[in-house]
Amino acid sequence: MARDLIVIGNWKMYKTSREASNYIEHLLSKIEGCKASVFLAVPFTSISSAAASARQAKLEVGAQNMNDARDGAFTGEIAALMLKEAGATFVLLGHSERRRIFGESDAFIHRKVLRALADDLRPVLCVGETLDERSGGETEEVLKRQIETALADVPEEKAGEVILAYEPVWAIGTGKNATPEMAQEVHAFCRACLADLFGKRKAGQISILYGGSVKPENVRSLVSEKDIDGVLVGGAALDPETLAEIIQQCEGI
Ligand code: PGA
Repeated sequence: MARDLIVIGNWKMYKTSREASNYIEHLLSKIEGCKASVFLAVPFTSISSAAASARQAKLEVGAQNMNDARDGAFTGEIAALMLKEAGATFVLLGHSERRRIFGESDAFIHRKVLRALADDLRPVLCVGETLDERSGGETEEVLKRQIETALADVPEEKAGEVILAYEPVWAIGTGKNATPEMAQEVHAFCRACLADLFGKRKAGQISILYGGSVKPENVRSLVSEKDIDGVLVGGAALDPETLAEIIQQCEGI
């Protein structure tokens, strides 16, 4: 695989800052010598302690959301610069839980992507179709719209900062994962969308991760596919032992 292998753990709304430090200590003891890039998307209040615990290790700490404005009167929101100063290096954007539960639109996610890039945070753009959309044969149309809208106006020289995560909504937290062949087909389609936006060479450098019920038992066959450059893990990432196992499986240890 020409691209780096990336494993992202998404803690969602779990773990206090104290729990974050214990988790990271445990995880690091299990993945010494691993070559994959490991990212943890943690709750806002755990970013500082997680980043401090991750220091000197090859572990990136990031957030799960942010606002698109630089600053302003937006009660309860958080800005990219605040995340950055707390120790975040990346941010998940457009996760299906944000889209579905909090009504985030493609246009809003687009503005967030531009803000993250402007303020030096790596955006991890999450896209994916619902079960109804898949049954209705709309998967490609939905993904094309999500990708093209979110990444419009991203300058080609910044495109390499973006990480794309394909997460079929029907596979998130359900125990049902896409088969490796099914995921590969969609990843190849996503890469073609990226090529339309940034050219084939650039598209070949962008990592596309798979997410949705990833576990130690299914990760190896997923990352063996040509266009699957790593995984975004929710539930199974809550236990550092299981995440370490996923990382080891990915590397074929
Ligand atoms: P899951 O979640 O691994 O629990 O399916 C993935 C995600 O929400 O990113």
